[in-house]
Amino acid sequence: MSAPPLLEVESLNKSYPVGRRGLFGKHTMQVLHDVNLSVAPGEVLGLVGESGSGKSTIGRAILRLIRSQSQTMRFDGIDLNTISRPQLRDLRRRMQIIFQDPYASLDPRKTIRAVLSEALDAHGLHKGAGRAARLTELMGLVGLDPSFLDRRPHEFSGGQRQRIGIARALAVEPRFIVCDEAVSALDVSIQAQVLNLLAELRRKTGISLLFISHDLSVVRFISDRVMVLYLGRVMEVGPADAVHFAPKHPYTAALISAEPGLHHESRRIRLSGETPSPLHPPSGCVSRSRCPYPQPACADTVPPLKTVGDRHQSACIRDDILL
Ligand SMILES: Nc1ncnc2c1ncn2[C@@H]1O[C@H](COP(=O)(O)OP(=O)(O)OP(=O)(O)O)[C@@H](O)[C@H]1O
Ligand code: SF4
Ligand SMILES: [Mg+2]
Repeated sequence: MSAPPLLEVESLNKSYPVGRRGLFGKHTMQVLHDVNLSVAPGEVLGLVGESGSGKSTIGRAILRLIRSQSQTMRFDGIDLNTISRPQLRDLRRRMQIIFQDPYASLDPRKTIRAVLSEALDAHGLHKGAGRAARLTELMGLVGLDPSFLDRRPHEFSGGQRQRIGIARALAVEPRFIVCDEAVSALDVSIQAQVLNLLAELRRKTGISLLFISHDLSVVRFISDRVMVLYLGRVMEVGPADAVHFAPKHPYTAALISAEPGLHHESRRIRLSGETPSPLHPPSGCVSRSRCPYPQPACADTVPPLKTVGDRHQSACIRDDILL
């Protein structure tokens, strides 16, 4: 029997108010629609989608940084929908986030020692004599020389700063980290180094990651499973290689085709038109206004995710398309 998931989310919805309150009350824009996801202990789930598809909103909702609605949101056996304040405090330690811009998330006036100590102090960890050893250990974990502890963020490169961001997240021994575009601001060669570091840390510590990126090749590199999001809905989810090499949803196939150097021109699937506003999504299949294969039935109902392979699901009503 497989281990129970570390994180389990069912039917996650999120709406933002838009415009001014008028005669008919406040208008809302729904940006997440019934998103289901689970992350096993030690698993990396990749979340990919174009800008505005709702990736960060999912990460923030799970970390309880924003309010959301869900049928189930359970982390390590704790029901996040009914969590008490003391439990929430402990949860903040076990779920961390790494952001895209390490420079913006590090206080320029503070040394790295101060940054990491603050994280430990927030949860009363490694006080007294054990502190110095823990700081040295953290620097080693992320491949930085401990002699750098007394330097300030501006003395580091972008890749080194992201390593500091990772050390800060790891300091409190989390079980789960949301990496929100964690390597997107870095040069490609530095991206690879930071991705390798995250993969190695996962192997060493058994930590689970929700790895968010708009770049499918980056997501595939580090993820066990990949979830493809479009206008706040899951289009496809499955093992990383299956989604990448044998996509079942036309939208996923188009994302892969758009990656440089991966497909011959004849196999290219192009997305037509612009992404619609979440305020006015198409009826039925939300990707139909950009899909090369729509049929009249695609406008009728929202296609449910159906099983198309081992742990692989796709939300397309057609199974006669060779992608
Ligand atoms: N605070 C907010 N108020 C209103 N709308 C918001 C707010 N935050 C996000 N949105 C909207 O929610 C939708 C999803 O945004 P989100 O930031 O989750 O997308 P994303 O996939 O992370 O995009 P990106 O790749 O650009 O980071 C977008 O339409 C965005 O404009
Ligand atoms: S359901 Fe229809 S519109 Fe949607 S992806 Fe499948 S073929 Fe395209
Ligand atoms: Mg985002």
